[in-house]
Amino acid sequence: MAKGVAVESRMEVRRVLAQDLGSLHDLDREVFGTLAYPYFALRQIFDVHADEILVAQINGRMCGYSLTMTARSSDASWFQGLGVVTPMRGRGIGRRLARAALVLLHQRGSTQVRLAVRSDDVVAKALYESLGFQPEAEEADYYGVGENRTLMFCTLTSALVDPWSTGGLPASTRLVRHSSEPERASGSSLRG
Ligand SMILES: CC(C)(COP(=O)(O)OP(=O)(O)OC[C@H]1O[C@@H](n2cnc3c(N)ncnc32)[C@H](O)[C@@H]1OP(=O)(O)O)[C@@H](O)C(=O)NCCC(=O)NCCS
Repeated sequence: MAKGVAVESRMEVRRVLAQDLGSLHDLDREVFGTLAYPYFALRQIFDVHADEILVAQINGRMCGYSLTMTARSSDASWFQGLGVVTPMRGRGIGRRLARAALVLLHQRGSTQVRLAVRSDDVVAKALYESLGFQPEAEEADYYGVGENRTLMFCTLTSALVDPWSTGGLPASTRLVRHSSEPERASGSSLRG
């Protein structure tokens, strides 16, 4: 897609359905490559956490997803996955998905959310920090020698999430890539 060209379509963020699993698997592989969930694992995650998986669609085509996991009888959750297909990045889709996921967690009673992200993933870390996550710990060599991961933590409060819960698309959501924004490399395998 050419830079600066408006996407004349509406973005929808909704809960995943069983019939989405094939498309979700394709999307996960496109975003995370060799670190994508095998189909059977995705199916098992769906069986337990379907109500914690959100998908973003534009004109009916899936372009992103988020996955959180909350243990039963716990107010602590994990943000386990967030991905947007490369051509659609930089348009606010990741932020919209992440906000919606955090609003859902808050509505369900979660007060703490943790996540892990590769320490060199500056894009994801900047997004999570802007959503209220703070670095909590660093684990050296987690993905291999010299490949560290950062654990991040967020306290969910009404003050944080209420501004994200109203009015459909947040005002910050944009469906136009500004020509000054850098293109990102494709084929990332950055699962936290
Ligand atoms: C991380 C990811 C989900 C962000 O999705 P996205 O739709 O491109 O993100 P958004 O357009 O909503 O931008 C959110 C923030 O990310 C950061 N960001 C986005 N594009 C960026 C770029 N090219 N350079 C630097 N920061 C960038 C900014 O902080 C941005 O906030 P801003 O628009 O207020 O400046 C996406 O890049 C992705 O799928 N990456 C591969 C998978 C991954 O790393 N997932 C996270 C770890 S599990």
